[in-house]
Amino acid sequence: GLRRATNVHWQALDVSKASRSGLKLQKPAVLWFTGLSGAGKSTIANLVEKRLNALGRHTYLLDGDNVRHGLNKDLGFTDADRVENIRRVAEVAGLMVDAGLIVLVSFISPFRAERQMARERLETGEFVEIFVDTPLEVAEERDVKGLYKRARAGLIQNFTGIDSPYEPPLDPEITIESGALAAEAAAEHIFAFLLDKGYLS
Ligand code: PPS
Repeated sequence: GLRRATNVHWQALDVSKASRSGLKLQKPAVLWFTGLSGAGKSTIANLVEKRLNALGRHTYLLDGDNVRHGLNKDLGFTDADRVENIRRVAEVAGLMVDAGLIVLVSFISPFRAERQMARERLETGEFVEIFVDTPLEVAEERDVKGLYKRARAGLIQNFTGIDSPYEPPLDPEITIESGALAAEAAAEHIFAFLLDKGYLS
């Protein structure tokens, strides 16, 4: 149901995200990684953040598994819970962009509508959608956490790619074919994009 606060007004504030981000050192943005479980999202995001951090950029990495231990620990994996999971994460990422950060978001985020909502929460160019495009067979073959095996055995319900849908991005800024590309090469590719498009100038 809709629970909407009434009598709440938007408060204008004086410090802008440009001043929070130290002006021209970095362009605040969200690098939104989406893909199947085990696609390599977290590994690649972690490498990109390490690289940005080493260059003195102010970053934060929001990772599905971690956020689900705290802010979103009340949520499971039904469609409705995933929608709420992504809504909260998009909102937190948006606040962090206002704080001047480069935010890396690593969630399966299986539905186009919620990724679109996250994009619309931001200004043009602030949302970089990165599709970690690993075929189900490859992710399932890797099965780092043993979850695919458990899902196939019927021990986990609503598992993405098995009995819960994944809607691939139609027009992502970056596609990583991580079946073919090593994580380091993928991170390098993303870093080159950020340099090229002026996020780090
Ligand atoms: S979502 O769809 O964006 O809300 O998912 P996310 O918050 O990224 O959480 C995905 C991680 O949770 C573990 N896990 C599951 N994934 C998919 N489906 C089901 N049913 C499920 N149950 C637990 C899994 O470890 C995912 O981690 P990653 O890092 O994606 O492999």
